[in-house]
Formats: sequence, structure tokens, C-alpha cells
Amino acid sequence: MANLIALISIKFMLFYGLLALGENETCANSCSCDWKSNTADCRSRKLKVIPNFGASSATIQLLDLSDNAIETLQSESFRNFTNLSSLHLEFNNISKVEEGAFRLLTKLTDLRINNNILTVIKPGIFVDLNLKNLYLGHNKIEHIEDNAFTSLPNLELIDLDSNFLSSIRENSFSILPSLKDFYIQNNRLSAVPTSFFSRTPRLDFLLMNNNTISAIDAYALKSCSTLKKLHLSGNTIKAIHPQGFSIPAGNSTVQTLNLEYLHMANNTFEDVPTAINSLPSLTYLDLSMNSFKSVRSSAFGSLHRLKSLHLSRINDLESIESKGFAGLVALTQLFITGNKKLRDIPIDAFPESYNLQTIFLEGNALQTLHENMLNWDNLKILQIGQNNFSCSCDLIWIQTSKLLQQSGTRQNLEKSTCALNKQTKYILKLNAVEMKCPIKQTSHNDAKTRLITGLIAASIASCALIVCLVLISCRRNVYSKYIQFKYHRHLDEALFTVEDPKSITKMFSNKSLIRNERSREETLM
Ligand SMILES: *[C@@H]1O[C@H](CO)[C@@H](O)[C@H](O)[C@H]1NC(C)=O
Ligand SMILES: *[C@@H]1O[C@H](CO)[C@@H](O)[C@H](O)[C@H]1NC(C)=O
Ligand SMILES: *[C@@H]1O[C@H](CO)[C@@H](O)[C@H](O)[C@H]1NC(C)=O
Ligand SMILES: *[C@@H]1O[C@H](CO)[C@@H](O)[C@H](O)[C@H]1NC(C)=O
Ligand SMILES: *[C@@H]1O[C@H](CO)[C@@H](O)[C@H](O)[C@H]1NC(C)=O
Ligand SMILES: *[C@@H]1O[C@H](CO)[C@@H](O)[C@H](O)[C@H]1NC(C)=O
Ligand SMILES: *[C@@H]1O[C@H](CO)[C@@H](O)[C@H](O)[C@H]1NC(C)=O
Ligand SMILES: *[C@@H]1O[C@H](CO)[C@@H](O)[C@H](O)[C@H]1NC(C)=O
Repeated sequence: MANLIALISIKFMLFYGLLALGENETCANSCSCDWKSNTADCRSRKLKVIPNFGASSATIQLLDLSDNAIETLQSESFRNFTNLSSLHLEFNNISKVEEGAFRLLTKLTDLRINNNILTVIKPGIFVDLNLKNLYLGHNKIEHIEDNAFTSLPNLELIDLDSNFLSSIRENSFSILPSLKDFYIQNNRLSAVPTSFFSRTPRLDFLLMNNNTISAIDAYALKSCSTLKKLHLSGNTIKAIHPQGFSIPAGNSTVQTLNLEYLHMANNTFEDVPTAINSLPSLTYLDLSMNSFKSVRSSAFGSLHRLKSLHLSRINDLESIESKGFAGLVALTQLFITGNKKLRDIPIDAFPESYNLQTIFLEGNALQTLHENMLNWDNLKILQIGQNNFSCSCDLIWIQTSKLLQQSGTRQNLEKSTCALNKQTKYILKLNAVEMKCPIKQTSHNDAKTRLITGLIAASIASCALIVCLVLISCRRNVYSKYIQFKYHRHLDEALFTVEDPKSITKMFSNKSLIRNERSREETLM
């Protein structure tokens, strides 16, 4: 008997449970629902209004309304969807979002309204929400009103890609303590929105490519101490202030940004910007499609961690100066392609020892490739096609190089050609004997020669050092008087120069610097 009652009650509970389940699992006619994942799929149904799910609304976690014809989101349109975590409204025709449209959606973390026709973001919409990701890209947003984005403690990503924004004002946002990703590429920004960044203490990834930014002022990114990735390609930047990537640090010193990835292709730089040398953590740098004519000696001198450097399709690039790649000791990938005026990479372009693994050099106007430019043996990939090599003994080394052991590189080198008396020849098939190339010294002899040269150089250097020391000790008094004279003469000028015979430095006059100069004098005396 007891068993029977138990059985009946179990059946009753099951029945009731199923009923309850059924009640909460009614899908709207125009959608299809999956109650395992609590997903309502209402994509591409020509919907103009938000479908009614009755009591099931509270169960739905992902509501996909993308690709419909919704035009307006009313206040509390979604009030019954209390369990919603992800709401997709992209590819509709939304031009208006009323205040409080997403109110009460305390679990909403992912909101997509991209690819609509919004023109303005008013206050009261993105307020007091627990959003993590907010997609507003591909609208027609021209204006963001004051206090539009407030109390969004968890917001990690805002996507404003492809809108019509010409500025980002500080007042539009409250502090966004969790914001890591800010995407504002393909807009009309004419300057870096420096003050906005004072509200984004955790910013990590900033996309600002394809805007109309023409310069980077001093300390433009001073609040971005956590920024790692910066995209500025496709702007019209001609110059970066030498402190453009620095952070002022109270006392006359500066801190540096921790940027790791810097994309600045397709701008109008007329020189490799010196400001990059204040980015010691940089591992990736793209300066392709710019307007400089040459790569100066030590242009990248402080980038000791740079792994990947891109210098391609620079129409004006004619020369790389000697020691042009000095300092790049961590470089593994180098892209120098499609520079139609680049005829040579000098033999001493790489004065240190390097870890290069891949080098792409196709499509330049190179006439030769110096054997002693690099240790080519460790390279995995070398591509040198479509250049303007002239067949000469300088290229013969390639035929016996270890490079040919890498199959990809071998294939590329087999196809590479040079010109001899207007005839095209394959570099790997050049005949060294016919060309009367000198026979290469054996490496044993080579080492001996190097040892002797080294010894001679060392003895000359030590003689020179002794002479210098003697001279310095004689001239010490004269030198310190010289500095003192300059200092007194220029004391009252805003900008003064100290002509130190060893280095000529321009400095801004302020108390601490003057103090520095004083202490410098003292040490010199
Ligand atoms: C059905 O909805 C009611 C209230 O809306 C809720 O109390 C109940 O837990 C829900 N049942 C299920 C199985 O989700
Ligand atoms: C809301 O989602 C949670 C899981 O995130 C679930 O435990 C709860 O039952 C859901 N509430 C309703 C009413 O479906
Ligand atoms: C929310 O649910 C209530 C009760 O189920 C219903 O009367 C109301 O119309 C719903 N509101 C919306 C906006 O769907
Ligand atoms: C979108 O809305 C505009 C008016 O805001 C209307 O002219 C247009 O026909 C709508 N497009 C679609 C595809 O519904
Ligand atoms: C920049 O704009 C060009 C032309 O409109 C486009 O081809 C390119 O994809 C854009 N780049 C990015 C990263 O959006
Ligand atoms: C360079 O940037 C301009 C301006 O954003 C863009 O229109 C153009 O398509 C870009 N060129 C390339 C090759 O990406
Ligand atoms: C100057 O500021 C930097 C960074 O804040 C700090 O590391 C350094 O100790 C300070 N130097 C002096 C002299 O206060
Ligand atoms: C290719 O090299 C020849 C000399 O070998 C030179 O006359 C010619 O101008 C070069 N072409 C280009 C595009 O640099």
C-alpha cells in the first residue's frame, strides 16, 4: 500500500514536473528553441517585433534576433527575459533604442547591435548593466552623448568599428574599470582621444586604424600603461612626437609604454619615428606603406625584443643605411618586400648576431645579396624572387649555402634569377669558373686571417685608449669651465642647449633639470 502511494506520488511529481517544464518551454511560433542550451533562434524571419515566449521568456539564455526588420527597441522590451545572457540584434534596421531598453537584464553579458542604423547613443541605455561585450559596429553613429556609458563595471569590450565618430569625449563614459578592448577603427577620428583613456585603466587592445589621425602628440597615450596592442594603420600620421609613446612620471623622468604590437602601416611617415625607441617591450612592428626614403643607422636601436619587422611596399624607400638594423638582436622575421626603389641592403646592415629565421625579400630592386651580411646558415625561409640581381661572383655563395637544405627555400632559390648582358639566368646555375670568380678561401685560412686582424686591431685600440686617457686628464679643467659658461649664459631662457663636447642635447629648462645640470657640474669639477 505504502509502495503504491509512493509510486503514485512519484508519477504525480513526474507529471507535474513535466507540465511545469512544458509551461516554461513554449517556443514562439516564429522561432526555434533548444531547451538543452536554452537558446531561441529567431534569425532571418522578417520580424518587426520581439516575439512573445510567454512564461518561457525567463528560461531563455540566448536570444538570437539577428537579420530581421526590427526598427525600435522600446523601454523594457525585454523585461520578461530575465535570464538572458546573450542578445543578438545585429543586421536589423534599428534606428532608435529607448532609455531602459535593457533594464532588468541583470545577467546580460553579450549584447550585439552591430550592423544597424543607429546615429546617436543617448544616455540611459547602457547604464547599470553587467555587460562584458558590447557590439555597436557598422552603424551610423556620429555622436555619443554625455553619460551614455555609465556604471558598466564588467564591460571588457566595446566595438564601435565603422561608424562616423569624429571624436570620443571623456564625458560620454564613466570609469570603465574592466575595459580591455576598444575598437574604433574605420571612423573619422582626427586625434588620439587622450582624455578618454584616463577612464580605461586596464586597456589592452586598441584598434584605431583607418581614421584620419595626422599626428601623435607628446604623451598622447600617457594613461595607457597596460596597453599591449595598438593599431594605427591607415591613418595620415606624418610624425610622432619624440615623447608620443612616453608616460610622464612626476619627476623629470619618463616611463615607457609596454606596447608589444604596433601596426602603423599605410601612414605618411617621412622617417622611421624615433618615438618607437621608447617602447622596449615591442615584439611586432609594421611600418609598411609609408613615405620614408631611408632607414637610418640604428633606427630601431632600442628594440631589443622585436621579433617581427615589416617594411614592405614603401614606394620611396631607396636605402638602408649601414647598421640600419643594429640592436634588433631578437629579430626572427623580417619582411622587406615590394620596395621598388630599394637596390641594396648593405653588408653591415646587421652588425650584431641575430636569430633570424625567415626573411622575405621579394619584389625589391636588389642588385646583389651579400654573403657576409648575415649568418645565413640558421635561416629556415629565405625568399628573394622578383628582384633586379645582376649575375656576379657575389651571388655564387648561394649555390653552396646551407639554405638549400630547407626545401621551401630551395624551391624559391631555384626559381630566382639574375641578369647578365640583358640575359636572364638562374642564380643556382651560374658557372663560377666561366665567370672567373676567385676561389673561396678555406675556413681554416679564414680563421687565421681573422685572428691576426683581430690582434692588430686590439693593439691599435689599446694604444688609442692610453692616448685618450692622457688627453682627458690634461683637459679636465678646461672642459668644466666651458660647461659653466654656457649654463650661466642661458639660465633665463626657456629652451637652452648645453653644448657638451661629447654629446649635444636639447633640454627644457625647469628646476629639476637645472638641478641636474648643477650636480653634473659638481661631478665634473
Ligand atoms: C518555470 O517558471 C517559473 C516562474 O516563471 C519558475 O518558478 C520555475 O522554476 C520554472 N520551471 C522551470 C523548469 O524552469
Ligand atoms: C536561469 O539560468 C540558470 C542558470 O544560469 C538556471 O539555473 C535557472 O533555472 C534559470 N532560470 C529560469 C527561470 O529558467
Ligand atoms: C511579460 O509577461 C507577462 C506575463 O507573462 C505578459 O503579460 C507581458 O505581456 C509580457 N511582456 C512582454 C513585453 O512580453
Ligand atoms: C529601414 O528603415 C528605414 C527607415 O528608418 C526604411 O526606409 C527602410 O525601408 C527600412 N529597411 C528595411 C530593410 O526594412
Ligand atoms: C581600412 O580601409 C580599407 C579601405 O576601406 C579596407 O580595405 C581595410 O580592410 C580597412 N582595414 C581595416 C583593418 O578595417
Ligand atoms: C590605406 O588607408 C586608407 C585610409 O584609411 C584606405 O582608404 C586605404 O584603402 C588603405 N590602403 C591599403 C592598401 O590598405
Ligand atoms: C622617478 O619616477 C620613476 C617612475 O615613477 C621612479 O621609478 C624613480 O624612482 C623616480 N626617481 C626619483 C629620483 O624620484
Ligand atoms: C636594374 O639594374 C640595372 C643595372 O644592373 C639598372 O640599370 C636598372 O635601373 C635597375 N632597375 C631598377 C628597377 O632598379
